[in-house]
Amino acid sequence: MSGVGPEGLDGGAEGLALIKPSVRAQAAYTLAAPAARRKLNQNESPLDFPPELKEIVLAEVRRIPWQRYPEFAPPALLTRLAERYGWQPDGILVGNGSNELIQATLAVTLGSGDRVVAPAPTFALYRLLTAVLGGCYVPVPLGTDFAYDVDRLIETAVRERARVVVLNSPNNPTGSALPPGAVERVLRETGALVICDEAYQDFGGPSALGLLAESSRLVVLRTFSKAIGAAGLRFGLALAHPAVAREIAKGKLPYNVNVVTLAAATAVLEHQELWATRVRDIVATRERFLPRLRQIPGITVYPTAANFVLIRCQAMPAKTVFRRLLDEYGILVRDVSNPAELAECLRISIGTDEDTDAVIDALGTIFGRV
Ligand SMILES: Cc1ncc(COP(=O)(O)O)c(C=O)c1O
Repeated sequence: MSGVGPEGLDGGAEGLALIKPSVRAQAAYTLAAPAARRKLNQNESPLDFPPELKEIVLAEVRRIPWQRYPEFAPPALLTRLAERYGWQPDGILVGNGSNELIQATLAVTLGSGDRVVAPAPTFALYRLLTAVLGGCYVPVPLGTDFAYDVDRLIETAVRERARVVVLNSPNNPTGSALPPGAVERVLRETGALVICDEAYQDFGGPSALGLLAESSRLVVLRTFSKAIGAAGLRFGLALAHPAVAREIAKGKLPYNVNVVTLAAATAVLEHQELWATRVRDIVATRERFLPRLRQIPGITVYPTAANFVLIRCQAMPAKTVFRRLLDEYGILVRDVSNPAELAECLRISIGTDEDTDAVIDALGTIFGRV
């Protein structure tokens, strides 16, 4: 053995030559998240998973054997999910976060060069996974104030013969919700599989769940990562026509949801009142926060139906504002200013009332309150 490190391997050139160029051209999905007193950068719940449910989950996890594989698709859990989301158990897939179900859905639909039409900007994983899977990603700019331009999305999907259309509502990172009737139109006027990513729908905007009975080209994604504070456990679901769900399941790994997460999801579904309370609190905090934010000079605040808000810094570079919030006030927000359409933009998750008060005070001082 010549040594313990990869020095002398020419930066991995031989191995890299075997990686698909379309993958190497993509930026990785990573996040540098420095520790901060107020963490408002990932649209998580500001509250931990409910402590009383933690106790139930821990007791259950102590009781069950760990040497056994988890159930593939626990029938009782699927039944409860079906009740909550108003769909059939055999049309529901559970995933290791909804991210896994985005991947599985794209994996079973995309062949080489197949087009995926999506709004721009939107959740970055869609572009990355499309490239990894050999598809072709076609971004369609959002309109004024990042509102959905449904006509343009449909025109593009038809022109490109899109195999998949992604509708993320409320859209991350802009907060824009689809206008009523948009999903119906996209289904009617295109031949694409339509992925409605509703990771933030608990907090506002219309849902496409009611359309599942009308089209087998619709896949709706939901997650337990936001409202109920279970991002660390990784649980999401996809809802689709049962025949389509069976095919998407082939794109997932077996045993993808571990026993701890299954126990937690079950506990949440048995205590759904907590979910509603948490959503109500976040929405109330958001509605108190937004008018105060709009009064701060030097920033534009975009409309949002989600548990976050996008702002554009007019009077100072976003990178300076980001650093000052972190260094001087211990507030970590998300710097999303990289793509041109988001120049000088920051995304701020809705935290507790104390968090949003702190943001108002900090931005008021940074921009010089009127
Ligand atoms: C639009 C969108 N979809 C899906 C996800 C992933 O959620 P999960 O934690 O369920 O994988 C996120 C997470 O930020 C998101 O913003």
